Amino acid sequence: MPLKGQEEDPLLLDRHGGFFMGDRPERSDMENEWNTRTTLVHGGTRRSQYNELSEAIYLTQSFVYDSAEQAEARFIESGPDEFIYARYGNPTVAMFEDRIAAIEGTEAAFATASGMAAVSGALTSMLRAGDHVVAARALFGSCLYILEDVLTRFGVEVTFVDGTDLDEWESAVRKGTKAVFFETIANPTLDVIDIAAVAEIAHSVGATVVVDNVFATPVFSRAVQQGADVVIYSATKHIDGQGRALGGVILGSREYIEKTVQPYMKHTGGSMSPFTAWIMLKGLETMDLRVRAQAASALAITDAVQGHAKLSRALFPGHPSHPQAELVTAQMGKGGTVIALDLAGGQAAAFRFLNALRIVLISNNLGDAKSIATHPATTTHQRLSEEQRTTLGITPGLVRFSVGIEDTDDLVADVMHALDAV
Ligand SMILES: Cc1ncc(COP(=O)(O)O)c(C=O)c1O
Repeated sequence: MPLKGQEEDPLLLDRHGGFFMGDRPERSDMENEWNTRTTLVHGGTRRSQYNELSEAIYLTQSFVYDSAEQAEARFIESGPDEFIYARYGNPTVAMFEDRIAAIEGTEAAFATASGMAAVSGALTSMLRAGDHVVAARALFGSCLYILEDVLTRFGVEVTFVDGTDLDEWESAVRKGTKAVFFETIANPTLDVIDIAAVAEIAHSVGATVVVDNVFATPVFSRAVQQGADVVIYSATKHIDGQGRALGGVILGSREYIEKTVQPYMKHTGGSMSPFTAWIMLKGLETMDLRVRAQAASALAITDAVQGHAKLSRALFPGHPSHPQAELVTAQMGKGGTVIALDLAGGQAAAFRFLNALRIVLISNNLGDAKSIATHPATTTHQRLSEEQRTTLGITPGLVRFSVGIEDTDDLVADVMHALDAV
């Protein structure tokens, strides 16, 4: 039922996705035509009867029904914007889900408590004992744990391949392969996987293509257009981008999100909190500006360190020197916000470099406004065996450098000074 005043201007309500008394209007034609930066600011917005400017935080775990009959009906089937319990859904969380789905170009999204809740939820909800999965070997340590330790414990067979080698994908998939999984840009070696080519191989046997798109970022990503069926983000990274909260999101078709992911997530408890969703909505507003500035600085820093005597490699997917630069340009235009610097002097040199940085912080997040440097071999990828690290190219001298939004010249000066100190 519209509130007083609102019925006088239905267009205004449509345009802003007005939210009143559980009656969510369809997204207007205008909203569908918005460009990315407009959608990042306005997409999915619901307003209460108070017409607040900033999105409201509906800090409630439950919702009240007008009658016992209404409660019964809602448990049988809830319409859009009809809520039951925050583990199932919440208006602030729904705003975040609709906004990120509009950016990614998927029909639906489910927001999760962390990036890892998204990775485990996306896979576990669709798999059962006896299923076969093919995954790229170069994965973030926790992703590897899900595939190697958790899924196999429940009777899922997992085959690992070199994600950049299409012949390996071709020979690993078989009739009955249920899913393929890879990071579109691998953490921390920055290998880029050809989404369209792997999707074609996977789809030829009917497998679902699930990608962790964190390093590609929702700003530059074209994963769904290129054939991914399910896209996952750790919202902790570029979406928040300001080091405040853990979060994640699973994006895909309405059928997959509503029939497969939602029942699993709502009963196992990995949903995003309303307060986190509000932080992520605020993060999305500035994400495009931040990420483009970060990518530009990453390019400038990579340029500045090319051929430096203290480095055996300086890799940035957006730089022409990256071995897969052509694929990066075709697949996502830019190369994200993370650089890999390999110190020729091994771990001791990497530690000296890290300890000499004055602006860039030693930490293990990425995609943040603050520049952050990490030594993967002794931190994020410590649980891998030395042999696994060698296979993946995680050398003792490798430093992962997530470029922030500080002044580009200051960052270049900081890196050059730290290299001099090695
Ligand atoms: C590629 C990738 N996937 C998933 C995650 C997990 O995200 P979260 O820390 O939000 O659980 C990370 C975290 O670093 C990551 O780098």
